[in-house]
Amino acid sequence: VTSSQTPDLPPAVDAPPTGGPRRRTVLLSGLLGAGAGVASGAAMAVAAERSRPEPDPRLAAAGARVRPFRGTHQAGIVEPPPHYAAFVAFDLAEGSDRDAVRRLLTVWTDDIERLMAGRGTLTDLEPELAAVPASLTVTVGVGPGLVGLTGAEVPGWLAPLPAFPEIDRLEDAWSGGDLLLQVCADSPTTVAHAQRRLTTSVADLATVRWVQRGFREPFEGPGVPMRNLLGQVDGTVQPDVTGLDADLLWVGDDGPAWLRGGSSVVVRRIGMRLDDWDRVDRASRENAVGRRLDTGAPVTGGGIDTPPDLGATDGLGFHVVDDAAHLRRAHATAPHERFLRRPYSFDDGQGSSARSGLVFVAYQADPARQFVPVQRRLAELDLLNLWTVPVGSAVFAVLPGAAEGEVLGEAMFA
Ligand code: HEM
Repeated sequence: VTSSQTPDLPPAVDAPPTGGPRRRTVLLSGLLGAGAGVASGAAMAVAAERSRPEPDPRLAAAGARVRPFRGTHQAGIVEPPPHYAAFVAFDLAEGSDRDAVRRLLTVWTDDIERLMAGRGTLTDLEPELAAVPASLTVTVGVGPGLVGLTGAEVPGWLAPLPAFPEIDRLEDAWSGGDLLLQVCADSPTTVAHAQRRLTTSVADLATVRWVQRGFREPFEGPGVPMRNLLGQVDGTVQPDVTGLDADLLWVGDDGPAWLRGGSSVVVRRIGMRLDDWDRVDRASRENAVGRRLDTGAPVTGGGIDTPPDLGATDGLGFHVVDDAAHLRRAHATAPHERFLRRPYSFDDGQGSSARSGLVFVAYQADPARQFVPVQRRLAELDLLNLWTVPVGSAVFAVLPGAAEGEVLGEAMFA
């Protein structure tokens, strides 16, 4: 199934008209600076008043939007991805036991329910920072060590992915963990606040192992697709996880009882060699994926939602979609080789080869069956590998949703 993701958010904010509030403020502060040197309090108040943006009802509605916390599944998976995210992995404190895990999940359940509703947590010193929920979702994942501590069955796939030595340059700093929080919202302030409160409220139970912050296109909407930092339209081909393909996403009766209605998430930090990418001509860059850079349509023609013609050949008999193109290599060769991709760009790395890239995030019921065969094919051959380097990798079981009155992960303690 082919679908481009269209968020239900207003896409654009109008620029202030020339001579409007912003310009007047600049003029006013310029005059003040050149004149007295020190602005009077009254003049500063006027400047602040004039520099305040005009209220935009669409932005206000987006800021007030609340996603439901309670339900069969956790939030943060099938909704259109908000613009900003933090992925935070934790290690349980040394000597943690089953009770400690239960305490932690009890605290987080309450915190997350409050934060997603636009309220501060119980111990929140700045509840005002929670007042703009901006579609906040917090999704909790657990690693094999934690599940083992509770005594619940550890599914076979809940383990590090197999090594892909052809491409992997994994660093401990971005890999593994006992717990994952995926925090997403349309305001980076909301993400930062939720991340901090959820970290501090369990500080005696778990410590941060890694944090990966990411962003998507805030103005995504009709005519403005999500593009990754290679400039490609990203996220076009997805399974229909809210319809016919739902069983690709959620753990069903064949999985451990405590995980039914849950899922799994693979988080891979993939750096991009942007300087090398810049040196490649446009045709070769389009060839690397098999899609056009401008529209995201397949190189075999049509629009963005036209399925690529993998059999098409040119006058010399070569495939139009290169044999090593990302599209051909990633395309499912069996119906179960599909998963929901929910990536975020990053542009903040320090001191490693990966300063910019993609926090690649894939949700599926069973990563060993669905994700690994595709990743293996890509590791063996994919033109994109010339410009991409995986530096982090982690796999978590995504807890089922919490029904009214339940604590997240409660079924692990049954
Ligand atoms: C930085 C790394 C990556 C970049 C820049 C990238 C980029 C892209 C782009 C531009 C497309 C075409 C548009 C679309 O359908 O979204 C695509 C498709 C796809 N990618 Fe990636 N990708 C990356 C890594 C991965 C990884 C690690 C996997 C899985 C192991 C993967 C799996 C897929 C799949 C399944 C498709 C759809 C293929 C189809 O048309 O059936 N990608 N990717």
